[in-house]
Order: sequence, then C-alpha cells, then structure tokens
Amino acid sequence: MLKGKPFVKWAGGKRQIIDKLKMYAPDEYNTYYEPFVGGGALFFELSPKVAVINDYNEELMNVFYCIKDETKFNKMCKELNHHEANHSEEYYYEIRNKDRDKSKFKKMPDYKRSARTIYLNKACFNGLYRVNSKNEFNVPFNRKAKVNTYDAQNLGIIHSYLNFNDIKLLNTDFEEAVKDAKKGDFIYFDPPYDTETLIFNSYTENGFGKEEQIRLAKVYSELANRGCYVMLSNHNTKLIKDLYSEYNIYVIEAKRNINSNGKKRGKVEEVIITNYEKSKK
Ligand SMILES: C[S@@+](CC[C@H](N)C(=O)[O-])C[C@H]1O[C@@H](n2cnc3c(N)ncnc32)[C@H](O)[C@@H]1O
Repeated sequence: MLKGKPFVKWAGGKRQIIDKLKMYAPDEYNTYYEPFVGGGALFFELSPKVAVINDYNEELMNVFYCIKDETKFNKMCKELNHHEANHSEEYYYEIRNKDRDKSKFKKMPDYKRSARTIYLNKACFNGLYRVNSKNEFNVPFNRKAKVNTYDAQNLGIIHSYLNFNDIKLLNTDFEEAVKDAKKGDFIYFDPPYDTETLIFNSYTENGFGKEEQIRLAKVYSELANRGCYVMLSNHNTKLIKDLYSEYNIYVIEAKRNINSNGKKRGKVEEVIITNYEKSKK
C-alpha cells in the first residue's frame, strides 16, 4: 500500500523520531487515535484502517477535510496552482492578511482557506504556524522566489486513503477527542512540548501550559485504566517525568529544527512514554 506523507511542515513534527515511535507502538490494536495530529507523521506512517484524528487548529483540520472531499480537493489544488503562479513577497502578505477581516474570512470557501493554509506554510519563514492574540497568522515571508506548495501524487494518495478507510476527522480539544476510546484501542499523544527553557511552543491561540500537561496526564491515566494502549511523546522535563513516573519512560535524542531562536537548534532529549511493555525489535 502506498502511504501518504505530511503535507505541511509542522512544529514538533515527528519525522525525525518516526522509527522510534514505530518501535514502541503496539503491534496490534483496534482504533488508532491521534488527538494532536499536527502534520500527522506517525498517522501516515502507520496508515491505520480505522482511526480518529484530531487537532485544535481549525485551519489545519480544514485542510484534512478538503483533501478528503473530492470537489473541494480539486478546487483546492487549482487554487494552489494559482498561488504558485502569483507567488511574490507582496502576494504572500496579501494572502496572509486575509484573516485580518474576520467576517470576510469566515465567508471564504473552505477550499480557499485550506489552500491559503498550505501556501502560507510553504512560503513562510521556517514553516512555522504562529498566530497572535487575535488569531491572526503572523509569520513573515521566507524570501524564496519560488514555492512548491504540494506534491500531487502524495495528496492523491492521502485523498484515497481518507476515503477508502474509516478515518474520522475532528477539530476539538484532546480530551473530547478520546472520550469514546475503548479497551484495545491505541492512542498516541504528541502534545505541544513542555519546556524548562523558553522555546517556541505557541501552536494555537490558546497556549498549552503546565496545567494543560497535568490535565493531559489525567486523561492518559484514565485511558490506561480503561485498557487502552497509550503512548505519549514530550520533552524530558522534570514535570513530565513526575507526571508519568508510574509508566515506562524511554529517553531518546531528537534533532529539532523549528525554534524561534535559531541558536538554540540542536539536540534535545525527548521521551516516549507507554503504559505497556514492548520489547525492542
Ligand atoms: C507537537 S504538535 C503535533 C505534531 C505532530 N504529531 C507531527 O508529527 O507533526 C501539537 C499539536 O497540538 C495541537 N493542540 C494544541 N492544544 C490542543 C488541544 N487542547 N487539543 C487538541 N490539540 C491541541 C496544536 O494545534 C498542534 O498541532
């Protein structure tokens, strides 16, 4: 089976540690849940037949909906061709500023909004997704003269995959997204990172602070008690180690590319936490 690949560059993307994640994922499970799907690196890699994927970011989930829907998908690709043909610094800011007028932005057709999200992701500085307190996308232009917004074959594979399998797309809070998970289901949590230093982790208009990490740890325990397989990745911080001390914590090294402070790029310790044993293959 041909597998899709992430169609946007996303902060915290898991391509770097994908082999480790696969190694610690259970071999068999019923429904796959990914409540913080982002670019969906593990989701695409596993390409499960039954899944529930979710992200709080409305613009991102709208892209998934549009790739799934035949008509919207075709219109979105045409719109992306149009963006590529008109690409320039001035054009980038024109498209970026479409969310400044909220009532107009709400009326914009879904396929145009999703093409905008993909175009901005490919033409903005470092592929960041960052919005200000008014939920306005505010990442500057990456100054490249040309932009490739999509790989038609990859999007075609994703379109078919989403249609020929039982894949539910949600746009809600993580806790709500996993409420129907049952014994034998597999949940992979890749939340915004906990930080001991001040590094970039503003993904949505609502930040994800320590209290959110604590709320997530409660949800993790509830699911573990329900008999689900639960895997979580995060930074190796004191809070995370304390919150998940009763589970298996595997420390791994990952290279991070997205950081608001270029000097801080480099190796960071990450952890993969599971509530089940899995011997290394
Ligand atoms: C680390 S990223 C996920 C990276 C992704 N797994 C990948 O491989 O590219 C975290 C995601 O959590 C989302 N998010 C933030 N708060 C959330 C919440 N309360 N519920 C669900 N998703 C949330 C963000 O929009 C972001 O896409």
